[in-house]
Amino acid sequence: MANDINQVLESNPVVPLVQADDSSVATKTSRALAAGGLTVVEVVLRTDRALDCLRAVADEVPEVIAGAGTVLSAKQAEAAFDAGAQFIVSPGLDEGVVAVARERGGPVYPGIFTPGELQRAFNLGLETVKFFPASIAGGVPALKALSSVFRTMRFMPTGGVSADNLADYLAVPAVLACGGSWLTPASAIEAGDYDQVTTLAREALQIAARS
Ligand code: 3PG
Repeated sequence: MANDINQVLESNPVVPLVQADDSSVATKTSRALAAGGLTVVEVVLRTDRALDCLRAVADEVPEVIAGAGTVLSAKQAEAAFDAGAQFIVSPGLDEGVVAVARERGGPVYPGIFTPGELQRAFNLGLETVKFFPASIAGGVPALKALSSVFRTMRFMPTGGVSADNLADYLAVPAVLACGGSWLTPASAIEAGDYDQVTTLAREALQIAARS
């Protein structure tokens, strides 16, 4: 599965965040992203009904690969897989979360911020990590420095990525994909303006295609 998702991300290197407390909002947002060409989505576990939202996207939106984001514990990772998550993203590196993902056979992208955390991820056998929060952790220069040392590691910068700096991040060869919430603005979703989400997704893919 990791290979399948990584393969999609090679040509489609943007992972939008879906944050919802209502399943129909989550499915509409995911369909709008897929209509714009973004088919790997991260449903973040930040609301009371986030797991229901994840289950709805996994069951009802087959055009996307749905993962769970903001997974903070092994217990949450279990619940996310039970709800149909095809991958797990965490803000930090937690061995318990990694172990659950391995047991359940799903890829896991834990967050790292420092060389020490990256070295721990490397020694756990991980090949792709989230770089979070990318803008505060040093952005593109930090990624270049880290990837010159950890030569096989791939990165998913997230946190402060936007249409304005997406091309800069994607130009770093070690970057597999970028993640972020800029594609799913709360204001557009509250207003039911899913066309805006599709437009932002399409725009991100165009930037990626030029990078
Ligand atoms: C995440 O969980 O990956 C971050 O909240 C995304 O950061 P962003 O909102 O700056 O895109």
